[in-house]
Amino acid sequence: MPLLNVSGLTKQFGGLTAVDNVDFTINRGEIVGLIGPNGAGKTTFVDLLTGGAVPTAGKIEYDGRNITRMANHDRCRLGLARTYQIPQPFGRSTVLENVTVGALFGSSGRKLSIAQARIKAAETLEAVGLSGSMDAFPSALTTAGLKRLELARCLATAPTLVFLDEPLGGLNSTEVKDALALIRKVRDSGVTILFIEHIVPAVLALSDRVMVLANGRKLAEGSGAEVTQDPKVQKAYLGDLSATASRFARRRRPPVTAGATVETMPGEGNPVVGATATPSMTVQRETGQP
Ligand SMILES: Nc1ncnc2c1ncn2[C@@H]1O[C@H](COP(=O)(O)OP(=O)(O)OP(=O)(O)O)[C@@H](O)[C@H]1O
Ligand SMILES: [Mg+2]
Repeated sequence: MPLLNVSGLTKQFGGLTAVDNVDFTINRGEIVGLIGPNGAGKTTFVDLLTGGAVPTAGKIEYDGRNITRMANHDRCRLGLARTYQIPQPFGRSTVLENVTVGALFGSSGRKLSIAQARIKAAETLEAVGLSGSMDAFPSALTTAGLKRLELARCLATAPTLVFLDEPLGGLNSTEVKDALALIRKVRDSGVTILFIEHIVPAVLALSDRVMVLANGRKLAEGSGAEVTQDPKVQKAYLGDLSATASRFARRRRPPVTAGATVETMPGEGNPVVGATATPSMTVQRETGQP
């Protein structure tokens, strides 16, 4: 049985269908990349899966349980957690306090005292390389630091399935390599991961499988090589980047080894960012989350 089983998932914002009848499954231990043009519905898809938005239609089953309309904090207790595309720290709390909230609200939260949650938070910050900033406020962190804080707060919930929304966005090439190593570590610890990313070589390097969304619909799904060679995907998203991406994907057969690093990719030092090659949709949002 898949860990997550999604059928016919749809989200409409007024006349706009942001997610359109998407079927998707993820198995325990998998790492799946989600790509697609700006405005494709990737973040909305994750919002629906984590309870940040209510579907217009469709069903979400997690571990055999219907969670379609379950509140987000209850999903978190079950082991689902996410990071945000634009980091969403609690600005008036320290880095340690931010992550302590994750530990208290997560799957083991009910069992932890505040003191225990602090210890768990400190351990998690250590694991993501932020222990030196525990007493700082989020405003003191760099973009890379904020991304790590997002990840730490998410991991402190002791999740089974995490959704990472553009964990590499805004990072320089060194920071991208470090972040990739960190995500691999999370995957190797047994956490199942769905991650959204525009840096195509990074997606190919990390993913067991890739799903492509465009205009809210599932355009393609399969191995990195399959999706990057798919003419529909090349037309809708990859454009001129397709040659580079599929060359890289072919080189990576057989797929993903834990030791693969971003250094092995073409475009090293200048990561390929598919989104910049595609037009952006500009429908007004109802909420603050991009
Ligand atoms: N709360 C909202 N209210 C109205 N429209 C929204 C809302 N959230 C998203 N949308 C619209 O839904 C569509 C999908 O947006 P979404 O943020 O999910 O795309 P995305 O694939 O994550 O894009 P990006 O790569 O730019 O992050 C866009 O047209 C967006 O403007
Ligand atoms: Mg997004």
